[in-house]
Amino acid sequence: MLTVNDSFPGPVLTVKKGDLVYVNVHNQGTYGVTIHWHGVKQPRNPWSDGPENITQCPIKPGTNFTHEIILSDEEGTLWWHAHSDWSRATVHGAFVILPPDGKYPYQKPDVEQLIVLATWYKGDVMAIYEEAIETGGNPNVSDAHTINGYTGNSTDCPTGENFRMQVSSGKTYLLRIVNAIMNEDQFFGIANHSLTLVGMDGAYTEPLMADYLMITPGQTMDVLFTANQTPTQYYMISTPYFDGFAEFDNSSAKGIIEYTGNYTPPSPIPSPTLPELRNATSALNFTASLKSLASRNYNVPQVVDRHIFIAISLNVLPCPDGQTCKGPPVNNTQTIISASLNNISFQTPQIDILQAYYRNISGIFDRDFPNQPNLFNFTGDVTNISQYTTQGTKVLTVNYGDAVEILFQGTAIQSPENHPMHLHGFSFYLVGINSGNFNSSQDPKNYNLKNPPLVNTVGVPKSGWAAIRFVADNPGVWFMHCHLERHATWGMDTVLIVKNGTTKETSLRPPPVYMPPCSAS
Ligand code: C2O
Ligand code: CU
Repeated sequence: MLTVNDSFPGPVLTVKKGDLVYVNVHNQGTYGVTIHWHGVKQPRNPWSDGPENITQCPIKPGTNFTHEIILSDEEGTLWWHAHSDWSRATVHGAFVILPPDGKYPYQKPDVEQLIVLATWYKGDVMAIYEEAIETGGNPNVSDAHTINGYTGNSTDCPTGENFRMQVSSGKTYLLRIVNAIMNEDQFFGIANHSLTLVGMDGAYTEPLMADYLMITPGQTMDVLFTANQTPTQYYMISTPYFDGFAEFDNSSAKGIIEYTGNYTPPSPIPSPTLPELRNATSALNFTASLKSLASRNYNVPQVVDRHIFIAISLNVLPCPDGQTCKGPPVNNTQTIISASLNNISFQTPQIDILQAYYRNISGIFDRDFPNQPNLFNFTGDVTNISQYTTQGTKVLTVNYGDAVEILFQGTAIQSPENHPMHLHGFSFYLVGINSGNFNSSQDPKNYNLKNPPLVNTVGVPKSGWAAIRFVADNPGVWFMHCHLERHATWGMDTVLIVKNGTTKETSLRPPPVYMPPCSAS
């Protein structure tokens, strides 16, 4: 497996708010790779953002690239990960951003603990990725989930060890949780202990007391708990909300919270009561309860200049002639699975879009990403014809400074599930979220325009919708995609180009002297 500095998860970057950080990435692996700083806005500087063939070409084996990471208002926990093919499965780590004065806007924890949730494959991830692309069928989703690299006693790894965290009675702990899992949203909890969410995606939240968290791939959460229960051992469990796949054994990742002191370990160790698999109401309730910390004076756009409506769906495409395809048959014909935004299944170009945009190279991408889909009853019955989609490299363009609202509508095409939509270059306000079809005359009346959470990833509910708002004040080329890796691979992606403003300070920065070259060799 490909790792960073010989560790899985990879090394933690700890910095202070507003720091300027240089990271020199040396690729000693056997294939090209890029690294992304997930949730760092990189003002005017997509050159160091990382998604392969979106903002740069891969760092080839034996070469290196220095990233310039410009932090602005991010504070809390973020993460970094590879952003090429499926290499992020093993190439990722936490990115901790401390307040400059060392003061948190919540009770100071006695101890901080990182919790990195990830995916374990017994096989080579790249082979799994290629199989999914070539046959158009479902890839092996994983063989186990891990907590801080420990597989625990999942059925596929019966001898695995559990991650253990020692706690002392009366002390308060801050968990900095990163969901680096490839393909499943998670419910997370600790037996007998209630959790208080205080931060998310590198911004503070209004404290939210909860028995469980709903955390999607791409999200990070800062959570307090106090060791105030009978001193013994308790399970910390992360379990899938949804598994689209027969291949996955549904095993949960289990860690053990271990009080210090003398006691006989309990048998069995108590487990948290978490919502059952596919409990959409519990998933939605958690996300709908999130609020930003009002004292931070966040600035929610009250008026929108640009409305964008994006229908998210899984689709199928006809199987190319002469090939054997493993997608679900439609009208007795073979298909490949695809995925789309507004019925466009994104195709990654051969050189990066950022370079093509900056240097006016034509033929790499089109600017005609539709502002809305063909309208239909998204969550109701859908005829076969709309399962089909078209492939293309289409991008959205918005004006500098526009207040943008994107309405993400989940659909019932194929086997529907949640889609954690992630936007690079921004944090956005989640102003509304619900199940069902979005109603443009009713639903906006219930938006939270006062203290909505400020996030970079939102779990758009299965057959439901989510509305986000942000000001397009970061000129550049920014990837937007579902953070379930197989959906992104199948085309559930697009790019947002934010045009330059009228001054140098509101325009894209020029490229650094060295960018990894795009040539084949
Ligand atoms: Cu976590 Cu496009 O990234
Ligand atoms: Cu998705």
